Amino acid sequence: MSRRAGDTLACMAVCPPGVEPLLDAELAAMGIARRNVVRGGVEVNLRPRQLYAANLWLRTATRVLVRVAMFDVHDFATLERNAATVNWRQWVPAGAQVTFRVSSHRSRLDHTRAIAERLAAAAGAPLATGSADWADGGSSYDDEGAPPAGPPAARFVARIDRNRLTLSADSSGEPLYQRGWRRQVAKAPLRPTLAAAMLAAVGWPAQGQPAQGQPAQGQPAQGQPAQGQPAQGGSSSGRLMLVDPFCGSGTVAIEAALAASGRPPGTGATPGSTRSFAFETWADFAPGTWASVRGEATQRLADAAGNDLTVMASDRDAGAIAATTANAARAAVGHLVAATHSAVSAIEPPPGPPPGPNDTAWVVTNPPWGGRIASGGDLRDLYATFGNVMRARFTGWRVAMLVADRHLAAHSGLGLHEALRTTAGGQPVQLLVTGPLTASS
Ligand SMILES: C[S@@+](CC[C@H](N)C(=O)[O-])C[C@H]1O[C@@H](n2cnc3c(N)ncnc32)[C@H](O)[C@@H]1O
Repeated sequence: MSRRAGDTLACMAVCPPGVEPLLDAELAAMGIARRNVVRGGVEVNLRPRQLYAANLWLRTATRVLVRVAMFDVHDFATLERNAATVNWRQWVPAGAQVTFRVSSHRSRLDHTRAIAERLAAAAGAPLATGSADWADGGSSYDDEGAPPAGPPAARFVARIDRNRLTLSADSSGEPLYQRGWRRQVAKAPLRPTLAAAMLAAVGWPAQGQPAQGQPAQGQPAQGQPAQGQPAQGGSSSGRLMLVDPFCGSGTVAIEAALAASGRPPGTGATPGSTRSFAFETWADFAPGTWASVRGEATQRLADAAGNDLTVMASDRDAGAIAATTANAARAAVGHLVAATHSAVSAIEPPPGPPPGPNDTAWVVTNPPWGGRIASGGDLRDLYATFGNVMRARFTGWRVAMLVADRHLAAHSGLGLHEALRTTAGGQPVQLLVTGPLTASS
């Protein structure tokens, strides 16, 4: 049932619904072929080196699963018998706990907790305390709820459909949106993976992705992006400018700086701010391969060093600016993110001429949307102010805003169209974007 070392692994890169085409484009840009987009992720065959690289570099993925086994489970007896054939020692380090995200459809066995207990018994490892929530996960691979807290556990996903169980090991461990560098959060923080999806949807450059103006095969060359597809910006030879005037804890700005400077999303400035991955604990983990994959990051950093990059983040809340500054420093992009305490009504674009055709200039932001933040005022006025400031001072820029309420966004008066539709904290959200702004936009 288990694979041999060096084999290609049947994997599933997991993401929130709606983000699949962006994740697929990320995998394509990494040179990974034979991908199959499914709801909630991309199925892909990876060699171990590619699996390590996927965990290190993917910005929009929640986790990367590796298929361990598939077997029939007509009853608990067949479950126990078949689970006993799994080479658990490959995936579960000595002394580790285990946790299972179990779902069951159209099948006789549907008591997810009891299934998780049987699988844990077969693995010869204790079920992690508090793993019930994760074990009772729904049909989606992407868990909006966090996996259990406590000591690290080897995580598995067990999906039963028509009495057949597919068991996958989670190669990421902590979800990939836990970047390591984001320790301080302001109000209503975005998941970094969602911020990365917003940036990918507008075509903000990232390591391994096609340069602006050079669409990946199958991407639209001009005009509006297809929904969920990377948009086209300017040229990689021009200035790269990004402003987030509602920056909160700085998630969008920091993700933008990491991507455009060729840094992996979860690698911080200090060992404590750099995340680790579950595959590092697997029995056939190849430290030399992993060191080589990480070594490539140095080259990517050098390749991106010539970028003319400006990232500005502002917020009217001083605590948010303190969080942004601390997070950016931990992410090793403190020198790339200019964080300013300012209301949106007072913001200005970076000094210099307005963006030209070779420049990439985006305002990418996540304004308050009511439900998540007590606004203390009328949000319609805030959106109107935002729109006025954009038109008056940001000529030539484009705007992308993540909103939960399209009608509220319309108060900005900006000509908006949808570039991405996904969920945030279980709530449907849309990324609305403009073309280059003019005074009459
Ligand atoms: C939804 S949060 C942004 C969260 C952010 N994307 C993150 O990941 O942390 C909206 C932010 O807008 C800020 N805000 C609200 N009204 C503002 C205004 N008039 N000017 C500037 N910032 C404002 C709030 O302080 C809050 O930090």
